[in-house]
Amino acid sequence: MRQLFIASILAAAPLLAYADAADDAIEARAGYMKMLAINMGTLAGTAKGEIPFDQAAVTAAASNIEALSQYNSVPALFVPGSGPADGKESEALPAVWEQPEEFAQKYAEFQEAAAGAGTAVAAGQDALGPVLQKLGGACKACHDDFREE
Ligand code: HEC
Repeated sequence: MRQLFIASILAAAPLLAYADAADDAIEARAGYMKMLAINMGTLAGTAKGEIPFDQAAVTAAASNIEALSQYNSVPALFVPGSGPADGKESEALPAVWEQPEEFAQKYAEFQEAAAGAGTAVAAGQDALGPVLQKLGGACKACHDDFREE
């Protein structure tokens, strides 16, 4: 009886593993993007004057974005079967899967834009605008082509 139970679990395992891989990837990339957005929120809020300038907070936010940008496998989180075409709740456009090289290129450009961001904002309040613009431009460049409005 016990063996039969284990055998039935093993038989179902590949199916479960596949469903989980897509759902896990969707959750992971949403969490990743949210972490980017939280830190961008600190930078943008400070630049707009909604948050009082705090060098330590600004440096931490820019350094966090730079650190997150060093995670090399973000495009890999867009696994096959994890898009809206597969019935998943996702804002990723079909272009992510149709043009994987362009998508990876946009991520590489974001990595480039984020390189040195932590050190750059450490120069003080005047350094914030240009860094924010560079980062925001890289987010937008990818969202324009690969994320639903
Ligand atoms: C290489 C492309 C790319 C780059 C670069 C990128 N994003 Fe995204 N982002 C996406 C895609 C695609 C989605 C939709 C993912 C989904 O819904 O499955 C997304 C979703 C999001 C979401 C919604 C997350 C959720 O599901 O709640 C936020 C917020 C976000 N991005 C913020 C940012 C910020 C801020 C940056 C820059 C610092 C950034 N992104 C850079 C491609 C990118």
